[in-house]
Amino acid sequence: MSELAYKVEDIEPAEKDEAAETFVAPLPRISIQAFCATGDVANELQTMAEDRRLSRAHVSVQTGGFDAAIKHYQSAPTPNLLLLELINGPEAMVEELTRLAEVCDSGTKVVVIGHVNDVVLYRDLIGRGVSEYLVAPVMTMQVIQAIGGLYADPEAEPVGRVLAFVGAKGGVGSSTIAHNTAWVIANAFATDAIIADFDLPFGTAALDFNQDPAMSVADAVYAPERLDDVLLDRLLAKCTDNLSLFAAPGNLNREYDLDPKAYDRILDIVRAGVPAVILDLPHQWTGWVKNILMSADEIVITAEPDLANLRNAKNLFELVKQGRPSDKPPRVVLNKVGVPKRPEISPKDFGEALHTSAAAVIGFDPQLFGSAANNGQMIQEMAANAKPNEAFMEIAKMLTGRVEVHRKRASLLAPLMGKLNLKKS
Ligand SMILES: Nc1ncnc2c1ncn2[C@@H]1O[C@H](COP(=O)(O)OP(=O)(O)OP(=O)(O)O)[C@@H](O)[C@H]1O
Ligand SMILES: [Mg+2]
Repeated sequence: MSELAYKVEDIEPAEKDEAAETFVAPLPRISIQAFCATGDVANELQTMAEDRRLSRAHVSVQTGGFDAAIKHYQSAPTPNLLLLELINGPEAMVEELTRLAEVCDSGTKVVVIGHVNDVVLYRDLIGRGVSEYLVAPVMTMQVIQAIGGLYADPEAEPVGRVLAFVGAKGGVGSSTIAHNTAWVIANAFATDAIIADFDLPFGTAALDFNQDPAMSVADAVYAPERLDDVLLDRLLAKCTDNLSLFAAPGNLNREYDLDPKAYDRILDIVRAGVPAVILDLPHQWTGWVKNILMSADEIVITAEPDLANLRNAKNLFELVKQGRPSDKPPRVVLNKVGVPKRPEISPKDFGEALHTSAAAVIGFDPQLFGSAANNGQMIQEMAANAKPNEAFMEIAKMLTGRVEVHRKRASLLAPLMGKLNLKKS
């Protein structure tokens, strides 16, 4: 394996790691009911109800504030989580919460959204058993984070981020970019990562990493109820210390018309084990591809600079953006730019049509990419100084919220020091 162009110590978490700050793991299957008193709060909570992180929870948002809530719960059980907007001053608020306590089941967590910004009141409410007090106006993401905090189990393993890669057309290089980015995340950032190749019949991740695993994603999707950490370990092929591969079978022995829930379950188990799951999606538009794409933490759309790619990328981009108003929009990567004699749409025009600028632009280099693919190597292994490595680094940094710092010269001595230490012992 050739020297890495960048070393682990070159990279540090960004001072302000936005990706980590806004990361909220999917909420469990809880019931959440909200009673709002103002239109603004109702709008934000309505957006929250449709957010991907709450897709498993049963959420209802109603108006009428405290009066409607108390009337409702006199005859109905309270949910796992009650969000209540109270518009009165501190004294009335305390009185209302005392009345609410009479109808509230003991297991219910209560989050209050109020209009009084006062730390004494905050402490008083928390002392009375309110789980969280938020001051209006509230933003959707702020409420999601507050709720996420209530259900994050400090004992639990951190939940990994799902980074989904999809092509705007077939063959645009989405898988190549996914694999090379995963390589950077695992080797340059020293972050444990798994590539999950969900292109079951045609996926190339195993070929690209020169692996021939006996088991694959198919073994898990056909028996999702059997899948646990132990089985997952056996299904994974190790590419490097930090990078494992959950390969596609890559054959046509079966038709892969599977229950969409099987894919969800696999992702849940995989993401519980590592901080980064690189999801290589096929260029298809089925229910499960759409669901998985919409529920991913980050999405990278790879496109070539032509009209069909532009139309498809725009459709994908807008659908995702509309369906996930509280998330960052997908990243768009332009690949195979500069094919000789091919008329192309410029990155600038492509970006303008999508109202975003490309996260990375990668040139057409059939010799480099072709040799890497045929050798079962990453671009970094083939040619550490090749230009596309900068793009993979850029994409990896964007998706994980890392920044590069100056290289430490001391690392040059590390192999020598290692040898000396060995001799001493
Ligand atoms: N920048 C590039 N220059 C030249 N060739 C490239 C470039 N990027 C990828 N390729 C080549 O393009 C081919 C298709 O790449 P890849 O399989 O990654 O695309 P894909 O979008 O995942 O395709 P599919 O739709 O089959 O999943 C591969 O042979 C790959 O080596
Ligand atoms: Mg692919």
